Amino acid sequence: MKLLELNHVEKSFGELSVIKDISMSVEEGEIVSIIGPSGSGKSTLLRCATMLETMDSGEIIYLGQKAAWTGENGQVAYAGKKELKEIQSQYGLVFQNFNLFPHFSVMKNITDAPIHVQKRDKETVYKEARELLKKMGLEDKENAYPCQLSGGQCQRVAIARALALKPKILFFDEPTSALDPELTGEVLKVIKSLADLDIAMVIVTHEMAFARDISHRVIFMAGGVIVEEGSPEKVFASDNERTQSFLGRYGAIL
Ligand SMILES: Nc1ncnc2c1ncn2[C@@H]1O[C@H](COP(=O)(O)OP(=O)(O)OP(=O)(O)O)[C@@H](O)[C@H]1O
Ligand SMILES: [Mg+2]
Repeated sequence: MKLLELNHVEKSFGELSVIKDISMSVEEGEIVSIIGPSGSGKSTLLRCATMLETMDSGEIIYLGQKAAWTGENGQVAYAGKKELKEIQSQYGLVFQNFNLFPHFSVMKNITDAPIHVQKRDKETVYKEARELLKKMGLEDKENAYPCQLSGGQCQRVAIARALALKPKILFFDEPTSALDPELTGEVLKVIKSLADLDIAMVIVTHEMAFARDISHRVIFMAGGVIVEEGSPEKVFASDNERTQSFLGRYGAIL
């Protein structure tokens, strides 16, 4: 079954049409990268898909369950509170600037929502959180506070926090763009290591070599539309003019 299906999603800010009739889907365990120039609508698409932003028209379906659709009156309708809560528990989000709670320890940042929102067993949650911290290379940091960590470490805590909620699909919006180059590598390595967890990932990134290495499918967006998509081999060797012109800027690393 498809984990996520977006059909004909559109979004404008005032007069500015940012997402123009985008349809895409994500299969179980699939890793999809979204690349494209600054301002092409990548973050807006992710924000619409995760319902942080309301779309103007279109359809959003998670695991066959409709989260949002365009009604007969042309207005977008969202599922009820209870259904949305259930749908939202299927996915997690990791942003550029971590959004950790500054007054919570690393451990509490990771365990708070599983214990208090998902109402899961405390002991089990702690045990799983320690395993996640180990996977992130942060086993000695459970009592630290975010301000005591590097940007790369904060981002790895943010990833552990998202994983602790056991999502089926994880969205990343430029997870390394706020990091110094030397910290970027460690975060990309951690994201790569998630590939074997069988969680689907949708990753907006400007790290082209990373996108090429990790993705099952690459989506190239420009001007609010999907210009092309396909295997990394296909997209990175594309003879499409817009794709080539964009990738040409990254020529040195490919
Ligand atoms: N809340 C908003 N209000 C008005 N305009 C917005 C808003 N959010 C985004 N935009 C505009 O929508 C367009 C697409 O923005 P978006 O952030 O989705 O691009 P992006 O592809 O993620 O770019 P980048 O690679 O720089 O992150 C831009 O022109 C932006 O200025
Ligand atoms: Mg963006």
